[in-house]
Amino acid sequence: MNIKGRNLITLLDYTPEEIQDLIDLSAKLKYEKREGISHKHLHDKNVVLLFQKDSTRTRCAFEVGALDLGMGVTYLGPTGSQMGKKESVKDTARVLGRMYDGIEFRGYKQSDVDILGKYAGVPVWNGLTDTYHPTQILADFLTIQEQFGKLKGLKFTYLGDARNNMGNSLMIGCAKMGMHFFAGAPKDLWPDQKLIETCAEIAAETGATLNFTEDPIIASEHADVLYTDVWVSMGEPQEVWKSRINELYPYQVNMNILRNAKPTAIFMHCLPAFHGNDTEVGKEIAETFGKDYPVVAKGELEVTNEVIESEQSVVFEEAENRMHTIKAVMLATLSDLYV
Ligand code: CP
Ligand code: NVA
Repeated sequence: MNIKGRNLITLLDYTPEEIQDLIDLSAKLKYEKREGISHKHLHDKNVVLLFQKDSTRTRCAFEVGALDLGMGVTYLGPTGSQMGKKESVKDTARVLGRMYDGIEFRGYKQSDVDILGKYAGVPVWNGLTDTYHPTQILADFLTIQEQFGKLKGLKFTYLGDARNNMGNSLMIGCAKMGMHFFAGAPKDLWPDQKLIETCAEIAAETGATLNFTEDPIIASEHADVLYTDVWVSMGEPQEVWKSRINELYPYQVNMNILRNAKPTAIFMHCLPAFHGNDTEVGKEIAETFGKDYPVVAKGELEVTNEVIESEQSVVFEEAENRMHTIKAVMLATLSDLYV
């Protein structure tokens, strides 16, 4: 693998071999971290993390990953820079690219991360936009590989809002890695038709299949991996909650759905997840909609507490793997150590 100098803006830009190499490099870095083997290969470099939206995992994964590699890190939060307010994204790219060796961006528009990638002159990593979340997929696939020893040929089921950043990126990832992607969602929440066509072309080469159904039982039957994400994503208006609950409550991952998958199935979620009323939002949704929609009365929305706490759930391993995979992306794009 030689991806030195490359951006990671969408996995569409990466070959299956490059994705596999990044996953394997992540596993190596995970092993080294566990064994206490230092890997400060990038001690003279600095990265900047630009966040227009909140984050726990992605921010911490980039910060700890960068520090473990020996780098300096600057965090610029939603109110911490001139970008977009007094300074264009293009100018920001050209300024930060002269000071830093790599730039992470989390925000709204995919076009913003595209502009950063075009003008920064240093690697730009997409830490989530409304359209894609590629670093999450690497962590998810490392987790699946750890559980099953492979990716190819597995039945991967995604239930919920299949046209958000996670639905889109998981479909791309499954197509690239020869998996059988099933989306269980109402038709208006299926991925964009053009993206489906692009992924179908990739799938034809890799042996993957792409399947879409409105029936959560068909989607989850004999699945190896069950995956869901929040019903309302960051940046969407509060007003969409009602219609989203109305559309998506049949797709909640509960014990019936889990039992419908293979007995060896794992449950995954990129997190954060609403699985009880111990969050402000979960509590508010339960109070506002619980009467009309008993299924959400306890603040369990896209997944029940029983599923997330079950032995089949790997969500915290998945969260940890954000750090190992993001570290691999930074290492491979900033150095030629892994050519
Ligand atoms: N999964 C994920 O991206 O989490 P954060 O929003 O906490 O970064
Ligand atoms: N679809 C979610 C993913 C969070 C990691 C969001 O964009 O809010």
